[in-house]
Amino acid sequence: MDLEELLLCPYSKNEVEISHDDTVYVKNSDRTYPIKNTIINFIPEINDEISNAYDKVSSVYNSMLTSSNIITKLYNSVVWGLNDQDYVDHVLSYIPDDFDGWILDVPAGSGVFTGKKYSNLKDAKIISIDYSYGMLMEAKKLYQMNNIQNVTLIRADVANLPVKSSSIDLLLTMNGLHAFPDKIKAIKEITRVLKDNGDLIGCFYVKNKRKLSDLFINNVYVRQRSFTPPFYREEEFVKLLNENYKFIEKNNKKSIFYFYSRKK
Ligand SMILES: C[S@@+](CC[C@H](N)C(=O)[O-])C[C@H]1O[C@@H](n2cnc3c(N)ncnc32)[C@H](O)[C@@H]1O
Repeated sequence: MDLEELLLCPYSKNEVEISHDDTVYVKNSDRTYPIKNTIINFIPEINDEISNAYDKVSSVYNSMLTSSNIITKLYNSVVWGLNDQDYVDHVLSYIPDDFDGWILDVPAGSGVFTGKKYSNLKDAKIISIDYSYGMLMEAKKLYQMNNIQNVTLIRADVANLPVKSSSIDLLLTMNGLHAFPDKIKAIKEITRVLKDNGDLIGCFYVKNKRKLSDLFINNVYVRQRSFTPPFYREEEFVKLLNENYKFIEKNNKKSIFYFYSRKK
């Protein structure tokens, strides 16, 4: 299956045609979607508090997340009691370097953690979806710098994915579920696009593990709109996923739950 065959209009569910004039045409419809800086935008009309919050932090996001200086290191050790790198490398290690198939990465963010991994995934075809154009522009720069050519960047909503059902071999969702406003819809969409026996891999914030993290999230991140309640306890999420997935591995580091599961 090529990219054009795999995508669809998120509203009409019609097939699409990707044209060289930087436009995606929806078949049997007048609807079109723009492509700007190689990013396909399936939600050009959306400019809300969440997309704005991430657009605003996109240029400093990488240094915040990687604890690249003493201030961000200190900040992360207070808020999380750990570095993101402590668990993202483990999550990404679930994907074998010789993986051959379609990977959907949602939310892709700025690509800060995936750049190195994607350089090794020579046989994979990767779709990176995010809600924030600013974050996708950062990912574009990073992937270009690393000469990564097998990634398509798409702006879309995880709750209404522009992707055909049962078309994805592996879905990666890192640090995203706590940001999505409609978590049930997001999980439903993720499950819809994933093939049977496809892998769902990810990590996100779970509540009631570390008081200081819960305090920061409820008083700072929620106000910034970078995190959106309701938040899950680990057991609640496991119960929710158990319906359609079997866990191959699940664990947590402080407030971060990470897992490797397979669709039944
Ligand atoms: C904390 S970042 C994580 C990004 C990346 N996976 C990482 O680990 O660095 C959360 C991302 O979720 C995106 N996001 C929020 N709501 C979304 C939605 N409804 N659909 C898709 N992405 C969304 C934000 O734009 C942001 O880039």
